[in-house]
Amino acid sequence: MKVLVATEKPFAATAVEGIKKEIESAGNQVILLEKYTDNSQLLEAINDVDAMIVRSDKVTPEVLDAAKALKIVVRAGAGYDSIDTAYAKEKNIIVENTPGQNSNAVAELVFGLLVYAVRNFYNGKAGTELKDKKLGILAFGNVGRNVARIAKGFGMDIYAYDAYCPAEAIEAAGVHAVKSQDELFRTCDIISLHIPATPETKDSIDYRTVNQLPKGGILINTARKEVINEPELIKLLSERADLKYITDIKPDADTDFQQLEGRYFTTPKKMGAQTAEANTNAGIAAAKQINAFFKDGCTKYQVNK
Ligand code: 3PG
Repeated sequence: MKVLVATEKPFAATAVEGIKKEIESAGNQVILLEKYTDNSQLLEAINDVDAMIVRSDKVTPEVLDAAKALKIVVRAGAGYDSIDTAYAKEKNIIVENTPGQNSNAVAELVFGLLVYAVRNFYNGKAGTELKDKKLGILAFGNVGRNVARIAKGFGMDIYAYDAYCPAEAIEAAGVHAVKSQDELFRTCDIISLHIPATPETKDSIDYRTVNQLPKGGILINTARKEVINEPELIKLLSERADLKYITDIKPDADTDFQQLEGRYFTTPKKMGAQTAEANTNAGIAAAKQINAFFKDGCTKYQVNK
């Protein structure tokens, strides 16, 4: 079987080695398409492959139509909003993800960005500390849980809300469960977003929601840019000079956000899962899932049932 690894943002070299070893150990063949700059390269490479491993690469109907033998796509990562899962289903193509494999990397970056933000982007002026601050985790999945674990080391007071996770499970992790997203925003000094991009969450982080943050509040986004209502957030931040927005996903309105000097920061390219460990964990998990699918028909991590 031919397995295409198509990554516009490439894996670390060690991860690629691991993926190759895993796929080849099952008698399958790896085709590498890294750092591609044009969709036409993907359309050409996908033509005769049986399986594909991707990251946030856009898997559109056009891409799926160009694939004549494709049976399975594995997103080496958690979020699969970049894949047209419904269209893949129509075409009987299995879509899977590798939940949890890169979540520690994303959670660590939350704190890398937070320390930078509370120390005024290292401009020399006295900043503040994370200890004893109220941290609100929006969505208590794999990343949210890792954020809570690390926040304990910083001595933070941790809260979480997750529409799909029972309060008991949140409390069992030593985190205060609140009853609503609004309560989380009203309660916490810092909100860390970990919700997926879905039709329900799109634009959900809007003026009204963020305006509930107490004075000096910080919103940190290592999830998806689509969940932010950008025009409304810019309006709010221009009215409230006490708030900061820190993100790992460059907003469409980056130039407008840049006007908010000292209160906005974005990484140039989404960096959350960009560690050798996360790439290796997610990449090898994806390779194993593909081998298991071809060997036993295993579809444990299918997301388009
Ligand atoms: C994910 O959904 O797994 C993360 O957002 C990481 O995405 P990436 O593989 O594009 O860095």
